[in-house]
Amino acid sequence: MKKIYGIGVGPGDSEYITLKGYRIIKNADIVFLPSNKGKSIAGEIAKDFIKDKKTVYIEFPMGKDNSKRYREAANIIDKHLEDKGEGVFLTLGDPMVYSTFSYIMKELEKIGINVESIPGISSFNAAANRIRIPLTLKGQKFYLTDGDIDEDILKHSDTVCILKTSKNKEKILDMLERYGFAYTYIKRCGFLNERIMNKADDILKDDDYMSLILGRRKND
Ligand SMILES: C[S@@+](CC[C@H](N)C(=O)[O-])C[C@H]1O[C@@H](n2cnc3c(N)ncnc32)[C@H](O)[C@@H]1O
Repeated sequence: MKKIYGIGVGPGDSEYITLKGYRIIKNADIVFLPSNKGKSIAGEIAKDFIKDKKTVYIEFPMGKDNSKRYREAANIIDKHLEDKGEGVFLTLGDPMVYSTFSYIMKELEKIGINVESIPGISSFNAAANRIRIPLTLKGQKFYLTDGDIDEDILKHSDTVCILKTSKNKEKILDMLERYGFAYTYIKRCGFLNERIMNKADDILKDDDYMSLILGRRKND
């Protein structure tokens, strides 16, 4: 049976790749990379480990409904894998957190390809550690969302992390202030050009897909 390992390469720093992920990447014959306009962030993070590998870029246009594309991606992978062959599909952060791989894996399984998923450090884990803010303490609630905030959930949360912030930062910051959260904007966490901002003016001026906002109740 053909097999694909989905491997989370972490959010930026290549040293965040797990030993297991590293070992499987090093042993792989072929590496599949999600890309946008020919560029793959996951491929960039793992570049030192895939230099001598056969790579196949699979385009996922950003901001588009890619639902049909997941089936096509599974077929591309199928076509490139030898009979009983194994390959890896690299993914930013963790494969089970807002990841293209979560959709592709379903399509792979439908066409009879075996899938194993190897966890990676998620962007929100790396960011919380970077600024040393606990995501949760005993008995607390953590809310993870990818853009829109549900006020009812926010009201009952102690910490919140918003990924894909570029769409509606102003609304997000307003809501965090209204509900008594201190916040930090972190972009390109773990990359050489990482930036950390706390002032609303600076945050609103910035526009980077690779950014998140971490909010924590002020009384903590
Ligand atoms: C499609 S989601 C992928 C999430 C990923 N699977 C994870 O576990 O973090 C892409 C979003 O993750 C966040 N992200 C990923 N890497 C990041 C980084 N190094 N710094 C800041 N945000 C990052 C951004 O909010 C970005 O818009």
